[in-house]
Amino acid sequence: MPATVIVGLQWGDEGKGKTTDFLAEQVAMVVRYQGGDNAGHTVVRGDEVFKLHLVPSGVLYPHITSVIGSGVVVNPARLIDELEMLTSRGIDVRRVRVSRAAHAIMPYHVALDRSLESRLGDGRVGTTGRGIGPAYGDRAWRLGLRMEDLLEPPILRERLARALPEKNVLLAAHGLPAADVDALCDLAAGWGARLRDHIDDTTTLVQDALARGDHVLLEGAQGTLLDLDHGSYPYVTSSNPVAGGACTGGGIGPLQVDEVMGVMKAYATRVGAGPFPTELEDGVGEGIAERGHEYGTTTGRRRRVGWFDCVPLRHAVAVNSVSSIMLNKLDILSGVDPVRLCVGYTIDGRRVDGWPSSAASLARATPIYEEFAGWDEPIHAVRSIGGLPANARRYVTALEEHAGVAIVLLSVGPERSQTIERAWRPMRHRPSLPPAGERRASPARAAGPTTAGMGHA
Ligand code: IMP
Repeated sequence: MPATVIVGLQWGDEGKGKTTDFLAEQVAMVVRYQGGDNAGHTVVRGDEVFKLHLVPSGVLYPHITSVIGSGVVVNPARLIDELEMLTSRGIDVRRVRVSRAAHAIMPYHVALDRSLESRLGDGRVGTTGRGIGPAYGDRAWRLGLRMEDLLEPPILRERLARALPEKNVLLAAHGLPAADVDALCDLAAGWGARLRDHIDDTTTLVQDALARGDHVLLEGAQGTLLDLDHGSYPYVTSSNPVAGGACTGGGIGPLQVDEVMGVMKAYATRVGAGPFPTELEDGVGEGIAERGHEYGTTTGRRRRVGWFDCVPLRHAVAVNSVSSIMLNKLDILSGVDPVRLCVGYTIDGRRVDGWPSSAASLARATPIYEEFAGWDEPIHAVRSIGGLPANARRYVTALEEHAGVAIVLLSVGPERSQTIERAWRPMRHRPSLPPAGERRASPARAAGPTTAGMGHA
């Protein structure tokens, strides 16, 4: 079964880095499919902590090809820094591939992101200030630079000459200095020269890997509730973290996806502005933030913390077609009593069980909670569901029931070994499907999933 998508089911920071790291031994390729250096993955290996922003965490394994797909926006200077940091710590980065079609974040994107945020004042999104929105905006406006352009100075100059008159009108309106074609051409050609050996046709790489039957892991950044289409717009990022984004940004078709593993943590966090119905602005939230180290990997900002919310969970399971779940950071709730779980909202006096499409409605939502007795025991050493305190088991069961999908991996600490693995056949299909033999045969499906049509004959 070759392709697994790992997707965040909350507002990002669910611990997807640990999930990828946990599964990495079985896979040949890890593909980042959207976002940019706004993301941050923290991977703990023994005494070593790696903070990665662009390079997929699979890079820590010598057998893995790490791919930055076409759906990612790449700040080339930051990518170079990250590759150098990894090299200086003894990690071989030769297998890192960057899509020729990925767009480059330029210094004016960063400047415009920050300037727009300060202009928006109270209406700001609370972006990471990394130029993500403006870079994706230029991509859609056909004024962007692709990584392949950095390799050919004449084309690079042509692209910059085309884009900069527009950019300079905007920069001037923001009171920012104009961008100069010559200076940017030199800068970007220098990045191109440094990254030449990494820039590649990654769609072909991914398709070839699938055709060989290699295991490919597609790793989303951020989370479903920050999705441009499915999150709480406009308080979202400018790409599609949902599983569908793995197809467009990773270079695969929907029928090549075998498993969608949703990742969530035992409570909620959010960075930046926007409605957060279950937010905790008291000592309980502070305690969780401290114990859970809820500070942004990218900006260092303290994350907002709240109770777990099942309303967006149900939405996220549906829009991603989640087939299995990893639950992270259950250990952080030890000592919290009671533990609350949001199961629905009251909005304008009415009960609402579905995720409101409008951020304005979400801002008026009052959570309806179910209460669970807490547990005091630390659970870092537990390695089976049966070994968890009964109250923790009840909470996990409730999460699973609301999701309607099995929690197959449960993390009780930051290290890879601190994981409860339930009886689970990795990379299986959505459990709610009846066995293949019972499905009505249709021409497309009759031969089952392991056919040449799925790309791994
Ligand atoms: P941007 O992606 O920098 O444009 O920021 C848009 C929104 O997404 C802001 O609320 C950010 O705080 C949030 N965001 C972006 N990346 C991450 C992430 O990796 N984790 C959590 N929130 C993020």
